[in-house]
Amino acid sequence: MSEGSQFREHSLEVGRRVYIETYGCQMNLADTELLLGQFRRCGYEPVRDPAMADVILLNTCAIREHAEERVVGRLGDLYRYKARRPDLQLGIVGCMAQHVRDRLLERLPFVDFVVGPDAYRRLPEVLQESGRDPYIDVRLDRSETYADLEPHREAGVRAWVTIMRGCNKFCTFCVVPFVRGRERSVPAGVVLRQVQQLAEQGFREVVYLGQTVNAYHDGEVDFATLLRRTNEVPGLLRIRFTSPHPADMSEATLEAMATCAKVCPQVHLPVQSGSDHVLHRMARGYTVEQYLRLVEKLRNVRSDMALSTDIIVGFPGETEQDFEATLRLLREVKFDQAFMFQYSARSGTKAARWPETVSPEEKLRRLREVIALQEAIAHERNQAWVGKRVEVLVEGPARKKAGWTAGKTPQFKTCVFPAPQPPVPGSVVTVAVREANSHTLFGELAA
Ligand code: SAH
Ligand code: SF4
Ligand code: F3S
Repeated sequence: MSEGSQFREHSLEVGRRVYIETYGCQMNLADTELLLGQFRRCGYEPVRDPAMADVILLNTCAIREHAEERVVGRLGDLYRYKARRPDLQLGIVGCMAQHVRDRLLERLPFVDFVVGPDAYRRLPEVLQESGRDPYIDVRLDRSETYADLEPHREAGVRAWVTIMRGCNKFCTFCVVPFVRGRERSVPAGVVLRQVQQLAEQGFREVVYLGQTVNAYHDGEVDFATLLRRTNEVPGLLRIRFTSPHPADMSEATLEAMATCAKVCPQVHLPVQSGSDHVLHRMARGYTVEQYLRLVEKLRNVRSDMALSTDIIVGFPGETEQDFEATLRLLREVKFDQAFMFQYSARSGTKAARWPETVSPEEKLRRLREVIALQEAIAHERNQAWVGKRVEVLVEGPARKKAGWTAGKTPQFKTCVFPAPQPPVPGSVVTVAVREANSHTLFGELAA
């Protein structure tokens, strides 16, 4: 615990610059903020251009093969900076560092360091000390939560706060338990202090993060209690969390969601498949019927609840009937949004030892079909907002429309509207929705 403060005394080499590129999920983005906090304490300045950096880090993802291939390709690009400046340090951190450690150095011998998600605490120090040999630290640490380290965040409206790390579920397709280790929670006192500070700094929304975020338990405080206490933080307007696991969604959490006004009516609830046969082989810990009952309960909590999900197609053993069951589930639930993936075998996982029964062409066909269906459903769900008024938490200028302002509705839908005098980011405005497509609501400021 005292190491964080020791850093300040160690701080040296003023003027060194660090560049970090992030892949993967929100937890990795939050880890990048944590790493930037560490580097700043050691006197580094974060830069947005790798050409300016003394240290280049790729914070990587291992969830699917495609994610790993992208990083390998990108490292090839970044190598040119190192070829020009041999003193530049180029490293890989994050889940892929943990997943393929030795193979990485074989394939990419010019990499200076490979550091896994539980070894960030001393990283900047270690780089300042390291000699010519590549530095490798991929030990997993059952207790590391980085609770005492302060992340470096850009000012904004929404802050991502990691409240638990790791995963105990071992779904048979998933690499996360292997690369991020076992579940552990940040003490509630630390979380709440951080949220208070964020609200004082002007953040209006927090998103609690964890691979099974609703399994949060620090030994005394559970997830439902944490939500209730967060709801009391003055200045904070909105609370979200991602991703909850269907099997961990307790009655207490549903009740906290129903009674806490700041908890938004929006839940990302990954289902993966609509077939019990596949769910069982995935070891997800719920049946289709149990999932549907949970959806019903969530919609009873708030009738305007927005739901999103993750789907995998082409899991080993997935038959045409199984796939059709997934399509049926999508039609029945009508998710607002879904992230859909082809199954990708990950070494070390249980499913990677099973024969792949769905050909690459067939996986692609199923993926296209499920995407087309979901696109139509998302469009339909958004049409239901046309003619209604929504409360938009303003984020800033819209990306695609000059002179328009963008923000999010409580359901986490992007809403854009013309505003000759743009409202300040962090304010909440009422917008009358005039049009919608499958991704965005378009409206105008209501009087
Ligand atoms: N903890 C979350 C999931 C995190 S990973 C949960 O349990 O719900 C994000 C998504 O990536 C998963 O929901 C899954 O749909 C997808 N995914 C994970 N492993 C995969 C694999 N081997 N192949 C394809 N998709 C995968
Ligand atoms: Fe992976 Fe399952 Fe854990 Fe989610 S719950 S991170 S899918 S093992
Ligand atoms: Fe990828 Fe690691 Fe997140 S594997 S999805 S970056 S936890």
